[in-house]
Amino acid sequence: MQIKFSTVILRKLLVSSALLISILSHENFVTAQDGNMDNFIDSKSSKIAKDVKKWRRHLHENPELSSEEFKTAKYVESLLKKFGLKPQNGVAKTGVVAVLQGGLPGPTVAIRADMDALPILEETGLKFSSKNKGVMHACGHDFHTSILLGVAKLLSERKKDIPGTIKFIFQPAEEAPSGQLVGARLMVDEGVLKNPDIEAIFGLHVEPELDVGDLGYASGPFMASSDLFTITIKGKRSHGAYPWKGIDAILVAAEVVTSLQTIVSRRIDARKPVVITIGKINGGENFNIIADEVVLEGTVRTLDPDAHAKVPELMKEIIDGITSAHGAKYEFSYTRGAPVTVNDPELTANSVSSLENTSGIDSVHITTPTMGAEDFAWFANEVPGFYFDLGVRNEKEGKIYGVHTALFNPDERALEIGVRVMSNVVIDYLRNNSK
Ligand code: NI
Repeated sequence: MQIKFSTVILRKLLVSSALLISILSHENFVTAQDGNMDNFIDSKSSKIAKDVKKWRRHLHENPELSSEEFKTAKYVESLLKKFGLKPQNGVAKTGVVAVLQGGLPGPTVAIRADMDALPILEETGLKFSSKNKGVMHACGHDFHTSILLGVAKLLSERKKDIPGTIKFIFQPAEEAPSGQLVGARLMVDEGVLKNPDIEAIFGLHVEPELDVGDLGYASGPFMASSDLFTITIKGKRSHGAYPWKGIDAILVAAEVVTSLQTIVSRRIDARKPVVITIGKINGGENFNIIADEVVLEGTVRTLDPDAHAKVPELMKEIIDGITSAHGAKYEFSYTRGAPVTVNDPELTANSVSSLENTSGIDSVHITTPTMGAEDFAWFANEVPGFYFDLGVRNEKEGKIYGVHTALFNPDERALEIGVRVMSNVVIDYLRNNSK
């Protein structure tokens, strides 16, 4: 009995351990064949790092200005095709979009990279310096584009394991000159966030203030809105010796310039950051003539949507009051540019866990919101967005120069980090939000 009992137990044990072994080996089989996405992202990011660097250098050597990214778009398109995707070109003129349909059901998200360069003469002395003289990838959009290509390549290889759909948005004209519509706005107008409808959008920007390996973000308002305005003060010309016979547009303009600053100091809640800058002033004909016209041009930046709404009206009140006090007339045109870039708080909280899991808690920093603007805001205005900073600084190697400078030289080790982090952020979102 005892023996028999033991035999039964032994047999049961054997059966269950065989079952366990089979389960385990099945698990192992799944891991090896389809599965552990995290490990795959980690190892694949380093495997393709060389390619990503090669693409980045090609893009860096061949920079193109806003809305002229023809060769860049072709290059991006040809690589996306190699990854097995079917890119659509000509979106917002020179943009490229591709959709990766995962093998498992889940939500649809987008990742965006900007592709344009700046009218700057490169002085880095790099062997892959710009061949297009006077044009330079001085804002790291070559990084953004090649990182997104890396993410597209990596995730395309594991298509069947992806729970949802990913739209890769290669955006033109982020740096569009003032007065022209920026690429993000054009893409939104052309419906890039629809068909399939995007639930969340992700983006990153290189940050030379952060060491390579570090990441930065802010929840809520992250980058300022950016508007531009022109004020034309119209006075009356007279001889400089007889000012009472004219209306001095220069004197009126001077009062307007000074008084506009009282909006920031006296009219807007001091806890809401606003900048009003007049960057250009033009008027007058000669030293002894009372000027009949002065044109002022400037920009307004805010991190607060309420302040953003209020400023133009307050400006108008001041311009109107001062000109009428002096008998002058005016024209005032105010153009709204990018809205405030807001990182959706819930999406941010969830995405930050992916950042921390990928790069380690100590590498992820909350950064101070900036008064600079970013046209990613147009996307994040439509759907929840998460935009973060990728550190590219390297003091030892002298890679310390800011964006939009001729010496900007981001550390290329950030490319691999960018691919790894962005892939994880997106995959985590899809996994956590698929039913
Ligand atoms: Ni930029």
